Amino acid sequence: MGGLFKDILGSSETLFKNELALDYSFQPKLVPYREKEQRFIANCIKPLFQEKNGRNVFIFGQPGVGKTVACRHILMELEEETEGIIPIYINCWQRNTTYKIILEMCDLMEFKFVQNKKTEELFRWVKQTLNKKSVVFVFDEVDKLEDMDFLYMILEEIYRKTIILITNYKEWIVELDERIKSRLTPEIIEFKAYSYEETKGILKQRVEYAFHPNIWNDDAFELIAKKTAELQDIRTGLYLIKEAGSIAEEKSSRKISMEHAQQALDKIKDFSIKNTNELAADEQLILDLVKSNSGKRIGDFFKLYKESGGNLVYKSFQRKIDRLEKSKFVTVEKTAGGQEGNTTIVKHNSERKLTDF
Ligand SMILES: Nc1ncnc2c1ncn2[C@@H]1O[C@H](COP(=O)(O)OP(=O)(O)O)[C@@H](O)[C@H]1O
Ligand SMILES: [Mg+2]
Repeated sequence: MGGLFKDILGSSETLFKNELALDYSFQPKLVPYREKEQRFIANCIKPLFQEKNGRNVFIFGQPGVGKTVACRHILMELEEETEGIIPIYINCWQRNTTYKIILEMCDLMEFKFVQNKKTEELFRWVKQTLNKKSVVFVFDEVDKLEDMDFLYMILEEIYRKTIILITNYKEWIVELDERIKSRLTPEIIEFKAYSYEETKGILKQRVEYAFHPNIWNDDAFELIAKKTAELQDIRTGLYLIKEAGSIAEEKSSRKISMEHAQQALDKIKDFSIKNTNELAADEQLILDLVKSNSGKRIGDFFKLYKESGGNLVYKSFQRKIDRLEKSKFVTVEKTAGGQEGNTTIVKHNSERKLTDF
């Protein structure tokens, strides 16, 4: 055996104190700059403390603005405060049907013997337990849901609850079944993007968790903070910080300098669409059409979509385009006037920014 691995491993003195602190799912002790939002949500939960029914909340805002972390923080504080309110957090991307969601609730409540049981039967169980106390439900990424029956069931059959729904898409609530919407009547809040100063504060906190002290050169940190604020996505910032740290470490540097930060930034330039598998089938079909016919008018895309077997009506199709635009998969340009009146041109965006991956 040569000394190849001894060489590379031996020389690496790590800069990281706790690399896990840069994971997207890491839960920091504090969630600064979201005090107002958290207070608002806490107020909607407050009636549950007096054994009354709570108010429901619909939260929207672009990716990486702290929606998930803030709600999880609230649930944690709730758990510390009282035994009388059961916190339930479910990510609907992983559990996208009523059956899967009810099954997850059983799991959270440590019910055994769930095999070969129908949804109704499982829910009867869940209901019995939940109705002994009050419940705060957080359903995250609700736009990934394939059916909403569970919402109806909860609204009708759980007595004291606050239901919190989270999504990146404001318009999701508009499309919601009238039957559910009228029962839900949620308070609506938007999580707006962080300012530069706030972005810096959040990233600084994570750097303190993740690295030994005095490792970062100020200008290197500021370069990344600036880019993160520009892209309005804290997730990107965490990625950049981790990359810059790894690059510095590979070079056996004891500091993270401008050069390392710059190289990390170069990496997200080639970040193209990595995660199209997060898209529902319809969106994927539309995206594929836009990809191979970039620059056509929206009406032409609708025709192509229909010819390829799509069955959405035009209005829903338009909404899908809006969503693809919001997630930066496509760009939409509206031109007024011209020979054909107003037209909307849809283009494929090959430089989708680093967000959900
Ligand atoms: N105010 C904040 N304080 C601390 N960390 C934050 C804050 N906002 C966002 N983050 C971090 O940024 C990342 C993205 O936040 P997240 O809540 O997952 O975004 P969203 O759910 O809006 O897409 C997470 O790792 C989260 O911990
Ligand atoms: Mg989230």
